[in-house]
Amino acid sequence: MTTPARYAVVGRPIAHSLSPRIHAAFARETGIALTYTAIEAAPEEFEAVLAAFVAEGGRGLNVTLPHKERAFALCAEATPRARAAGAANTLTWTGGGWHGDNTDGAGLVRDLTERRRHDLRGRRCLLLGAGGAARGVAPLLLDAGVSELIVVNRTAERADALCLALGEPARARARYWDDLDALGDFGMIVNATSLGREQSRVGLPFGLVAPGHCLAVDLSYGEAAVPFLAWARAAGCADAVDGLGMLVEQAAESFQRWHGVRPDTGPVYAALRARADALATAD
Ligand code: ATR
Repeated sequence: MTTPARYAVVGRPIAHSLSPRIHAAFARETGIALTYTAIEAAPEEFEAVLAAFVAEGGRGLNVTLPHKERAFALCAEATPRARAAGAANTLTWTGGGWHGDNTDGAGLVRDLTERRRHDLRGRRCLLLGAGGAARGVAPLLLDAGVSELIVVNRTAERADALCLALGEPARARARYWDDLDALGDFGMIVNATSLGREQSRVGLPFGLVAPGHCLAVDLSYGEAAVPFLAWARAAGCADAVDGLGMLVEQAAESFQRWHGVRPDTGPVYAALRARADALATAD
């Protein structure tokens, strides 16, 4: 009997990662034999953990906080979308080095446009944050056809750097957090900050929300998404979406890269959503 191919997600903290559960479900659904584990690694251990994984026959890794930029930096080759993000969440061992991809932005757009049937084209979009999560989704939001992408970050220099890297000065521009009141209203607001992990309330102006058709998205899920989504509903957003669908879709993109098959994400998403709802009710 041949040993199943090895895959894993690496991050810190990693104990609560849903990726092993998602990839196991995809493997069952597609009949592909694999193992997929979670590996905890501190930043200083990252390179050594990857070397050990390859030495043990590992083929592919998902990379999550806080390693996505580091992962990209050690790739011998990378997709344009990983280069645009300067961050990789999907590593594939080629035999001589790592190939890097970033499936986060594609996962987000697929969740919003195909599962939820939102049309992103022509929307004026506010992107809050300029860290790894924001960099992963920004190029794909432009590709999806938003009319403007206004990037606002607590540390203004990071927003400037992100917009410079996007290379579309006519559509993607940085603005100051202190000027949020003066930016007008938006048809889409994406929270890519870790604000919700630190604070129970987000003090954003309600005037950011275009009445009747604003889509609010938090890239995180569970407890971390609660403050922003509560704000979005109170502010009158037409829809307020967490990052659970994006998580499942980015995993499907990684799965397709590794195994050449796109899994049906519907059943896994439905199961995780039911679990998340049950946990929220139990709180
Ligand atoms: P990630 O990979 O999740 O993006 P990150 O690179 O550490 O992680 O970025 C966290 C983001 O949340 C940054 O945009 C950060 O702003 P700074 O660049 O100014 O640090 C933002 N953030 C974190 N705490 C915040 C807070 N209390 N208010 C506003 N933004 C915050």
